Amino acid sequence: MTKRRRAAIVFAMIGTQRIEGYAIVSDDGMIADSGGAMPASIRNDADQKFLQTSLDRAAVVVHGRHSSEGGPRAAARKRVILTHRVAAIAPDPSQPNAMLWNPAGATFERALATLGATGGTIAIIGGTEVFGLFLPRYDAFHLTRAPVAIPGGRPVFPPTVPPATPEQILAAHGLRPGPRRDIDAAAGITLTTWDR
Ligand SMILES: NC(=O)c1ccc[n+]([C@@H]2O[C@H](COP(=O)([O-])OP(=O)(O)OC[C@H]3O[C@@H](n4cnc5c(N)ncnc54)[C@H](OP(=O)(O)O)[C@@H]3O)[C@@H](O)[C@H]2O)c1
Repeated sequence: MTKRRRAAIVFAMIGTQRIEGYAIVSDDGMIADSGGAMPASIRNDADQKFLQTSLDRAAVVVHGRHSSEGGPRAAARKRVILTHRVAAIAPDPSQPNAMLWNPAGATFERALATLGATGGTIAIIGGTEVFGLFLPRYDAFHLTRAPVAIPGGRPVFPPTVPPATPEQILAAHGLRPGPRRDIDAAAGITLTTWDR
C-alpha cells in the first residue's frame, strides 16, 4: 500500500477537527538524543509554558508510547497513545483518560470517537514517527527552535532523501510560515507557527 493511500485510510472521515503539531527542535533538526531522551539543552520554560497552555485548550493530545507532555494537568487531558501493542484501539489500563491506538488496525476518527472526542483541536506532540504520520493533515504546526545541536539525535520528522530541514518538510506539505517570535530572546528561542 502506498503512503498516500495509508494516510487516506488512517484519516478517513476525520471531519472538521483541527490538527496542530508542537515541537521544540535543535539547530540540526532534532527533538531528542540518540538514546531517545530529551536533553536539558533543548528544554525551555517559555516553550513549556506555550505548550502547556495550548494543551489546556486542546480537546485531545496525541503521542507515541515514549512521549508525554508531563506537568500537573497531564492526567486530566484526554489522550491517544500510538502503539503496536494493541491490534486497533483499547483503553489504557494505566490512564483513565487515554486510549491506545494502532493506526494499522483502526482509523484515527474511530480512536477519537472511542475516546468521546467530538470536536475541538487535536494536539500532536510527537515523537518522530507520529509527527510524520500527521504531515498530510496539520492545520498548523508550532515549530520552536533552540540554538543547540544534538549530533546523531532523533529528528522531528522522518528523514527524507535528499535530506531536508523541518521547515522544508512543512513547506513541502503545504504549510506556510507566520512571523518568527522571540519567546525567550536571552536564550535565543524562537517560535514560528506554520499554517495550511
Ligand atoms: N523536542 C520535542 O518537541 C519532543 C517531542 C516529542 C518527543 N520528544 C522526545 O522524543 C523522545 C521519544 O521520541 P520517539 O520518536 O522515540 O518516541 P514516541 O513517538 O513517543 O514513541 C515511539 C513509540 O510509539 C509507538 N508508535 C509510533 N508510531 C507508531 C505507529 N505508526 N503505529 C503504532 N505505534 C507507533 C511505538 O510504540 P510501541 O513500541 O509500543 O509499538 C513506538 O515505539 C522522548 O525523549 C521525548 O521526550 C521530544
